[in-house]
Amino acid sequence: MSEIRVGIIGAGGIARGYHVRSYLRCPNARIVAACDVNPSALGELVQLTGPLDTYADYRALLARDDLDLVSICTTNNMHHPIAMAAIERGIDIYCEKPLALTLAQAREMLSAANAAGIKTGINFSHRRTPAARLAKEILDSGALGPVHYASALYAAGSVSYGIRPITWRNVKELAGYGGMGDMGSHIIDMLLWLVDADITAVTAMTRILVPERPERESGQPVRVTTEDQGMMLMALSNNATAYVVGSYAFTGRGYDQRIEIYGAQGGLMYDQQHPFELQVFMPEQHLQRYTRIVTGGTADRPYHTILVPERHQGIVEGQAWMQTTLMDFVQAYESEPFSFSPGFAEGVRVQEALEAASLAEARQAWVQLPS
Ligand SMILES: NC(=O)c1ccc[n+]([C@@H]2O[C@H](COP(=O)([O-])OP(=O)(O)OC[C@H]3O[C@@H](n4cnc5c(N)ncnc54)[C@H](O)[C@@H]3O)[C@@H](O)[C@H]2O)c1
Repeated sequence: MSEIRVGIIGAGGIARGYHVRSYLRCPNARIVAACDVNPSALGELVQLTGPLDTYADYRALLARDDLDLVSICTTNNMHHPIAMAAIERGIDIYCEKPLALTLAQAREMLSAANAAGIKTGINFSHRRTPAARLAKEILDSGALGPVHYASALYAAGSVSYGIRPITWRNVKELAGYGGMGDMGSHIIDMLLWLVDADITAVTAMTRILVPERPERESGQPVRVTTEDQGMMLMALSNNATAYVVGSYAFTGRGYDQRIEIYGAQGGLMYDQQHPFELQVFMPEQHLQRYTRIVTGGTADRPYHTILVPERHQGIVEGQAWMQTTLMDFVQAYESEPFSFSPGFAEGVRVQEALEAASLAEARQAWVQLPS
């Protein structure tokens, strides 16, 4: 395919901050149309792209006959209807996470896409953080031995977390989930990808910690209907156990994502704040492949800090590094047969975990997967 013609639906933060920036770096992709119900968001997007066709109604954008691919960057409630309409039109989809509001919607999207031969991607972008790519290389090499335990934390929280105004993320009909699904979906996906396993059982505690938030303009209190935080215990198909926390409630932490994985021979600690390094403890013959910047090896501090090798640094021209997930999706069009992960199947896998966690909280019980 010589040129991939792209439409972007939803022109908010992630569309402008990630999708547009990624497409503009793909020589074989061209953004030809964009849609948002909010004209000012569209205006800001057009400032980045230059002139293009704009729409207030996604159905009008999808009615064009020249689109190969759409990015779905709306609030979560619109992912399913827009994706189903795009599939109907035979248009490929790169969708924001979480895939849908519910597991039933997510499964419907996957089976319709598969039946229609649609190429799908989902923006679990943190898989392409350099240190996460290095963690994957180490785990795939078997250097840690069989994995026994993992913990994954997405500690998000603004300085004004306790008092900030309500947004769509706090409204169940628009978001589906709060901190557990918004933050947690990234690390559930990363965890399963890193350890190459599925979840077999989940139990969870989910909490709305700030039950009312002020409406931005009027200051009137509005009820919060999505969880601020979800804590999940998981049994995995490789016999390992995992503890996962997705949260908005880490006041002042900004975005702080940490994953630790321990196997019979060693362990690793990934920290989003240090994207070019990883702390590891593993047999010397595996360590020799990497540059150590802090040497461990003592009883007090057995962990070494190693540098992410250049091959995983996600270097793009004019910028230190970038999560290249969307660029890799576009690049995958060049190979036959098309192959890309994460796609809708991985989106469904995460949605299964979220739904099981909600059920577990409601029943105060363990929930077996697949459901
Ligand atoms: N992958 C990531 O790291 C990441 C980061 C942030 C957000 N996200 C996801 O991206 C999506 C958008 O988040 P955001 O932070 O950009 O939110 P946002 O509020 O900044 O933008 C959402 C946009 O969607 C528009 N919209 C809503 N309904 C629409 C409709 N029917 N038709 C067209 N446009 C519509 C809104 O007007 C708004 O401009 C969410 O699914 C979110 O979970 C992912």
